[in-house]
Amino acid sequence: MKKAAYTVTAALPYANGPLHLGHVAGVYLPADIFVRFLRMNDHDVAFICGSDEHGAAITLRAKKEGVSPQEIVDKYNHLIKNAFEQFNISFDIFHRTSDQLHHETSADFFKKLHEQGKFTEQTSDQYYDEEFQQFLADRYITGECPKCTNPNAYGDQCEKCGSDLSPTDLKNPKSTLSGKSPILKSTSHWYLPMDQHEAWLKEWIQNGVLDGVQQHDPKTWRNQVIGQCMSWINGGLKPRAMTRDLDWGVKVPLPDSEGKVLYVWLDAPIGYISATKQWALDNGKDWRNYWCKKEAEDRKLVHFIGKDNIVFHAIIFPILLKDHGDFILPDNVPAYEFLNLEGDKFSTSRNWAVWLHEYLESYPDKVDELKYVLTAIAPENKDSEFTWKEYQTRVNSELADIFGNFVNRTLVLTKKYYDGEVPTPSNFEESDIQVLNELKEIPNRISNLVYAYKLRDAQAEMMQIARIGNKYLADQEPWKLIKTNPDRVKTILYIALQVTAKLAHAAAPFLPDTSEKLKVVLNKNWAEWNELQNDELIKPGDLIGESKILFPKIEDSLVDSELEKLHQSNENKSNYPPMKDSINFDDFSKLDMRLGTITHAEKVEKADKLLKLSVKTGIDERTIVSGIAEHYKPEDIIGKTVLVLLNLEPRKIRGIESQGMILMAENEEGALSFLAPEKAFDAGPTVR
Ligand code: MF3
Ligand code: ZN
Repeated sequence: MKKAAYTVTAALPYANGPLHLGHVAGVYLPADIFVRFLRMNDHDVAFICGSDEHGAAITLRAKKEGVSPQEIVDKYNHLIKNAFEQFNISFDIFHRTSDQLHHETSADFFKKLHEQGKFTEQTSDQYYDEEFQQFLADRYITGECPKCTNPNAYGDQCEKCGSDLSPTDLKNPKSTLSGKSPILKSTSHWYLPMDQHEAWLKEWIQNGVLDGVQQHDPKTWRNQVIGQCMSWINGGLKPRAMTRDLDWGVKVPLPDSEGKVLYVWLDAPIGYISATKQWALDNGKDWRNYWCKKEAEDRKLVHFIGKDNIVFHAIIFPILLKDHGDFILPDNVPAYEFLNLEGDKFSTSRNWAVWLHEYLESYPDKVDELKYVLTAIAPENKDSEFTWKEYQTRVNSELADIFGNFVNRTLVLTKKYYDGEVPTPSNFEESDIQVLNELKEIPNRISNLVYAYKLRDAQAEMMQIARIGNKYLADQEPWKLIKTNPDRVKTILYIALQVTAKLAHAAAPFLPDTSEKLKVVLNKNWAEWNELQNDELIKPGDLIGESKILFPKIEDSLVDSELEKLHQSNENKSNYPPMKDSINFDDFSKLDMRLGTITHAEKVEKADKLLKLSVKTGIDERTIVSGIAEHYKPEDIIGKTVLVLLNLEPRKIRGIESQGMILMAENEEGALSFLAPEKAFDAGPTVR
């Protein structure tokens, strides 16, 4: 029978910040282990990821840092992609949702649903920030959660209790842009009538049955996933807007929809499809074989996600896929709980985090060590915690003292006694047979656990091979027997080498670098999981190479310095953007900044934010258009001496050529201030 094929996705990380260990432990690492295992078992697999580059998380970050959204997503797309590569996560593709192909794919998807009448168009009053002239959806608005009273819930979700919210559910709503209370203003959007989908969703999620056909075994779904979904459905699903009034995102592909984009949670999961398309294009494949009902008949779609993504992957995206009509639905949605750090939640704003790219920069040779620890503590069924102390203990007393010690002893003794040649055993004793028997069952146990998405237990079974080997050598003490019973030592090392071989091979999904290294030393090239059934993976007469220390011990100093770094950066937290990349003096001296005096100011017609200024600069008098109309009245600023950037390329704003820029300071709340000279200087002085 041909093995099931898999399309495995890992949640697309927002390109608005680096990844921390919580993301890795709860999505990317388990997905990678699962995929590596599938590949070793002859499943045809597509492993898909990319960055999620739309939505309020991105535009708010860009605003905070004072750069464009495109700059933000470019920076973090690269940073995240590189970190994944260095961490040896084996995606088939890491794509991005700002890509043209994605814009086309998601726009087409929307159009098809629209044409089939799957959306309803509704006009309603929505919160609006008058100062910033923007509607406030999702993260643009905060307020008190109606369910748990958390005062900082977002317009789309309360991060404290996990409730799914809409802006009008919040008490005391405040705009994240201006900090002020919003007004209500009417706007129209396309809604997904989720309420009409409750019946089939219930049947599909609880029983795995869709249109009367058994699709998946509901027993393979995690309880938390089914539980969360059912509580949403039983609470009554509401129509959800699939578009937003924003200028960053996939444009709504319909006439008269200027200023509207697709809701990020509509376009992002479609990103899995566009990424697959790109990968197929790059590799001469047909993407339909990975997604489309007819072509992808025996294919399972699996979404690895964090628990805050459950509703989107187990309810909303399935509705969209089914409405569209061409696509398969997920076979499973393994969702992870949260990882905490040193007794507290990971927090980007408080910089309470261990960032993957920083770890890799500090410890480029400790990739598998981190993988091992994160898998051992993975938050599969409940929240769990990372501490540097436990990291040290697990590496030292498990990887180094058991795995590394066993392998090293075996290889060193083989080198020493037999010049690296696998010895021929004589009769097996009871203890030998017991070891061989125990080994026989482990690969199947690992296999069953992986297919059941229990990767933490699966890795523990892999380690069991090392434990068995380590105990065997300690019990047999070949280093003592070598003088009195050299024949017996041959058997012992033959057995120990079989254990080493199985360990090297079975470690591949979990510790891929270590497995590779060991296969080089053992001169073997196993790739298939079922080779682990072979009792003699390595034969008498085979030659092995030099052993190297696999896992150097983690010193106390590493733990201390990491803890210090964590506490320090937590104290230095700031709400202001981080420093920009450094520039050289030449770059700086290109800026022509001088003091200028405002001689005239007037409002620009039909532009609430703009003032047209005349500014005396000491060498001329010029026109500058400035976005300060919401902060200053024209009559109040005439005569003020301010800092001006003269040589910014002139540009037309609302038909007026602006010849420079007034420099302003902006505080956390978005209030603006001129930069006035401290002495009674007038127009003209240069700034350096
Ligand atoms: N960017 C989202 C998050 O980090 C995940 C998006 S997953 C996808 O929570 F389905 F939208 F792709
Ligand atoms: Zn809440």
